[in-house]
Amino acid sequence: MATKLWDGRFSEKTDRMVEDFTSSIDIDKRLYSYDIKGSIAHCRMLAKTSIISEEDASSLIEGLGVIKREIDRGDFQFDKSLEDIHMHIETRLIEKVGKVAQKLHTARSRNDQVALDVRMYLRKETLSTVKHLVMFQKVIVELAKTHIDVVLPGYTHLQKAQPILLSHHLMAYYEMFSRDAGRFEDCLKRINVMPLGSAALAGTTYPIDREYVARILDFPEVSANSIDAVSDRDFIIEFLSAASICMVHLSRMSEELILWSSSEFGFIELPDSFATGSSIMPQKKNPDVPELVRGKTGRVFGDLVSLLTVMKSLPLSYNRDMQEDKTALFSTVDILTECLEIYIKMLPKLKVNKEAMQQATSTGFLNATDMADYLVTKGMAFRQAHGCVGEAVAYASNKKKELHELTLKELKSFSSHIEKGIFNILTIDQMINRRKSFGGTALKNVKAAINNAEKDLAVKMEG
Ligand code: ARG
Repeated sequence: MATKLWDGRFSEKTDRMVEDFTSSIDIDKRLYSYDIKGSIAHCRMLAKTSIISEEDASSLIEGLGVIKREIDRGDFQFDKSLEDIHMHIETRLIEKVGKVAQKLHTARSRNDQVALDVRMYLRKETLSTVKHLVMFQKVIVELAKTHIDVVLPGYTHLQKAQPILLSHHLMAYYEMFSRDAGRFEDCLKRINVMPLGSAALAGTTYPIDREYVARILDFPEVSANSIDAVSDRDFIIEFLSAASICMVHLSRMSEELILWSSSEFGFIELPDSFATGSSIMPQKKNPDVPELVRGKTGRVFGDLVSLLTVMKSLPLSYNRDMQEDKTALFSTVDILTECLEIYIKMLPKLKVNKEAMQQATSTGFLNATDMADYLVTKGMAFRQAHGCVGEAVAYASNKKKELHELTLKELKSFSSHIEKGIFNILTIDQMINRRKSFGGTALKNVKAAINNAEKDLAVKMEG
């Protein structure tokens, strides 16, 4: 068992069970490279401000480099009795460079240290999430382009409503993921604040230079209040919120993929390489990937609620409860990354059954609104037209026909305004292409939206 760096005032050894219970090393070892980077910056600052000598700083920095390589290689002994990654690295540094290593923790506490590590980690993960989202949006736009003029029924209440272009439907997801990327980018502003130098909670008596550390570590801002800096986990909660919303979008998309690939819909087919079979029913091809994305969404919500609950009653400033933040954060980062990556790979392989979609669009009175709009152009008030078409639908339904399958004479019995020009209005092509109000499903609009999206994505890909 390793000796502890804080046991000066203790007369009894820590109970093994307590060591296991309080240890976070299994979780926070993921932070090692950030911990080392932060410690190197701290050393450089301590030397610059003459708190320690240049010579001491050099040997500390060299030792930290050696430890980084040991951990990189998997050549590092982790030990629960050393609690967390900070203690592991400091203890190993003492083994490596001797007594001088005891100077590393001058003007610093694990409270500001862990806040720094997590901020550096999350800054990188947030940028990577945004990149993933941009890649995913590109895949969505490509799919929309491939199936630019495929029509399908648009739904409200999961009842057929009006015809839409599949490309328009897909571009709806493009919008959602744009907002997600924006949320993550916004969240980055609050992540990117440098807390080191807040020490335990009250700041420090040493003449430290926090701006210098911020510059080395590429932080545009230094935290303004030491108490807040060690007790703030808002930036994680924000990330988990953005991730939860993003997972809602992925889950809604999953639900549609599941529904659409059912034999009842038959709108799409998932690639064989992304589906699984049943151990008992030989005919089955199951949409496990979208199902799991939908399922994992619950875990991400759980992570958000879990951290909100951890934080809600904590008195200022740091409390050990906050160590639980990382379990929630890492789990969400992993889930979100994995879900985005698998969809980036799967979506381009989706098979679209254009005929089934077309077929579904031609039944179910999807042109009822268009008939009402037609009557409005003939001078009828919309509510009256609505009632009139309602009667026509009831009549046609009784005859097991669609509105456009009725004869002109039959249609005229509902309104004398109706002329034969109505049949053109009731075609799928017209229903789509006359909806050219900004943001509507007309082909021209969708092409413009795709064009804009491609321009935006090109800028984002460069950045
Ligand atoms: N492992 C701890 C955490 O993640 C580091 C900070 C510990 N601070 C302390 N005062 N015990 O929160």
